[in-house]
Amino acid sequence: MLEVSNLTKRFGGVIAVNEVSFEVEKGEIIGLIGPNGAGKSTLVNLISGFYLPDSGKIRFLGEDITKKKMHERAKMGIARTFQNPRLISNMTAIMNVMYAVLGSERGSKLSLVEAYGEAAYYLDIFDMLKKRDVLVADLPIYELRLLELARALALKPKILLIDEAMAGLNPAEAERVSKLINRIREEFDLTIIWIEHVLKIIMRSVERILVMHYGKLIADDTPEKVVRMPEVVEAYIGEEVV
Ligand SMILES: Nc1ncnc2c1ncn2[C@@H]1O[C@H](COP(=O)(O)OP(=O)(O)OP(=O)(O)O)[C@@H](O)[C@H]1O
Ligand SMILES: [Mg+2]
Repeated sequence: MLEVSNLTKRFGGVIAVNEVSFEVEKGEIIGLIGPNGAGKSTLVNLISGFYLPDSGKIRFLGEDITKKKMHERAKMGIARTFQNPRLISNMTAIMNVMYAVLGSERGSKLSLVEAYGEAAYYLDIFDMLKKRDVLVADLPIYELRLLELARALALKPKILLIDEAMAGLNPAEAERVSKLINRIREEFDLTIIWIEHVLKIIMRSVERILVMHYGKLIADDTPEKVVRMPEVVEAYIGEEVV
């Protein structure tokens, strides 16, 4: 469904993403790991259209989307969450999700009441309905992460790109988020690429792991195989995990 070939993105002298190629099949759930600065967020930013690559190609559902704008890709079914939640802080939780619903492909056909109803439905999936009237500025990080997921899901994506859903959360909250991600994957028939640093959780939540290091894709394999690759152990994981 997604095909990334020889993707490269530079920021000045830094090659944030360096000739990265991989394919994603419909229904896959893929973990994307690597040390700080490895290029994970940049890769997600390139796939979602937040940045355009310097070279390389991205195909989605058979179409070349390399030059498409972010909102065009969103309408095709590519949704993402941000490492630092990007919500509208002076609006309530439900208004943020409504905003996504109204901006989606089907949004122009919905009345405000219908959009409100849909937003409530997505908040409820993440147990956030009770917080619907709270201003985003007043929500703790855990609820901001849930709200980011609700907003992304409200776009009815085919592929969901998650950039660190667990950063800043305590272990119990991280567990709940991982359960919710697995639940929405099944219920909404999603394909997922999921960046995360909490290896224990990502390893058991995904079937395939991509490892980035200094902009390069250095591994693409099952969690079991990835943790045993010497270059991965050296680059990231540390002997103790193995
Ligand atoms: N907008 C930008 N301008 C300049 N440099 C950038 C920009 N975005 C990323 N970089 C650089 O590109 C490299 C990759 O950054 P990126 O954020 O993709 O890494 P990451 O793997 O997501 O790291 P982390 O785990 O810390 O989130 C880093 O050296 C970073 O400083
Ligand atoms: Mg990042």
